[in-house]
Amino acid sequence: MADFLSAYSIQNWLESCPQGYLEDTEFGHRQGEIEPALLNENPILHEEAVRTTVQLIVGERCALAASSGLINAAPDEASKRFLATQTLDEARHVEIFTQRLFDLGIARKDLESVIKQHANQNLVKFAGVLLEKVDKKDFVAGVVGQNIVLEGMAFSVFEMMHALSEQVNPKFAHTLAGTIADERRHVGFGENRIGSLIKEFPEKRPEIERMQKEMSYYMLATFADNFRNNAAAAEFDRLNQHQVHANWQGVDLTEMQPEEMEGVLAETVLKEFKVRLGRIGIEYQTPVRP
Ligand SMILES: [Fe+2]
Ligand SMILES: [Fe+2]
Repeated sequence: MADFLSAYSIQNWLESCPQGYLEDTEFGHRQGEIEPALLNENPILHEEAVRTTVQLIVGERCALAASSGLINAAPDEASKRFLATQTLDEARHVEIFTQRLFDLGIARKDLESVIKQHANQNLVKFAGVLLEKVDKKDFVAGVVGQNIVLEGMAFSVFEMMHALSEQVNPKFAHTLAGTIADERRHVGFGENRIGSLIKEFPEKRPEIERMQKEMSYYMLATFADNFRNNAAAAEFDRLNQHQVHANWQGVDLTEMQPEEMEGVLAETVLKEFKVRLGRIGIEYQTPVRP
């Protein structure tokens, strides 16, 4: 518990995050960095950037609601304090991705309507499954749903986007790098805190396994919606002409069809789920394939 207390303390958070990798950043990226002109000039790529950013905002708003909601459900003081730091991380994530929409030219007055218009309905359902547990103050299920399933997904999605942006959009890549570091801390908390609670309350396992299966289904459906029939991927290919590469998980993403990228992402996330759930004593349930 001593390690747990120091690793997830507010003091450690201050030193590693705001005074560490976020020092001197603005909205998560280096000062003065801007979106590449191409994103504002090319309507297909612009639309895709807006749509993608909206999904990040939807996911982060869910994480903000979940982490703040779980504070009062937490059974111990150290978890409450960790979740308070996570709440601020998630609020920051909502803010920096919202700022990205403004940077992409979305007017402030149109923010909510743009989010509503582009929010993926499967992602909204994914969030709904988690927030139902949070509303019931179900701490164990809520932490598994948030810190293992939602953030395991976010972690891999951000990593993939980071690989794709590193050469063409340093501003966005830097924004993602800070969130990846945050998500790593959040996922670590989930694994460390929940393992012992699952042992204490083994009767909760079937319900949690059902939740994981349901959330995984909606996650795969979201991936399918985003990658299949993706006009922006073809446009990127046409403009790129093999100049830029993006290596992730041992493959070059720029050489792949969108459906192949969907496959790599889905396999990566599901493999992570299996490992992390195994560590906390939950048996991974294979979702139906959308
Ligand atoms: Fe987040
Ligand atoms: Fe997070």
